[in-house]
Amino acid sequence: MPEWVKGSIDGIPAKAPYGTSLLHAARALGIDIPTLCHHEGLPPDGNCRLCLCEVSGKLVASCMFPLRDQGFAALTGSAKVMDARGFVLYLMLNRAPKSPRLIRLAHDYEAYGARVDPRFPLDRDGCVRCGRCARVCSLQASEAIDLAGRGPGRAVLAPFGRPPEDCLGCLACALNCPTGRIAFQDDGATRRVWDRDFALVPCPACGERRFTKEQLGHLGVESALCPECRRRAMAREILAADSVISYKARG
Ligand code: FES
Repeated sequence: MPEWVKGSIDGIPAKAPYGTSLLHAARALGIDIPTLCHHEGLPPDGNCRLCLCEVSGKLVASCMFPLRDQGFAALTGSAKVMDARGFVLYLMLNRAPKSPRLIRLAHDYEAYGARVDPRFPLDRDGCVRCGRCARVCSLQASEAIDLAGRGPGRAVLAPFGRPPEDCLGCLACALNCPTGRIAFQDDGATRRVWDRDFALVPCPACGERRFTKEQLGHLGVESALCPECRRRAMAREILAADSVISYKARG
């Protein structure tokens, strides 16, 4: 297996470590490819197909396509690619017509069919079935929700359609949903998500309630500093360590 592969992206000479995804190689060259289900912190899943590009005349999901062939020639904005992305956006926009992110993206692909269609036959429920919420949930080792079903009936669901028992109330799903479909409420004492209420535990330093009891239980602790207090505590530690080093250096 060679260490590097060489080829071209949009005619620009490209060199990347063997197996690098086309998406990463293109971004390294400053070429923008739109993505939706992709997240740098998650393994790629190729669900949304928005990142489609053309390699040797075939459409590939660039986030999932590893560069392995010497002399590869990829196109990120050919007519075939733009048409395909326009259709993908048409499907997603009609599922989630109020999503600001999709509206912005569809604007660039309007000439390729990305528009709201009053005759669209599927639910406009705001979910584009990209599965990012389920993947981020499984990364938290919670796996409270998942993509289930096939075809038009495919949806993100909790087991048995009930409020998920394994949910930690961490909001990772809601905050990572690209269309903002997952609703939650947080009144400073209680958080409600997936039809479940979670008590929020006060930060021992400032009293701000950021974490649920379930989140802390998952980490095996009863309380934790909120992110701001943690930052301040770390800064204090670094300053204290610095002064010890300077004091010693002065001899
Ligand atoms: S970003 Fe590549 S398939 Fe979704």
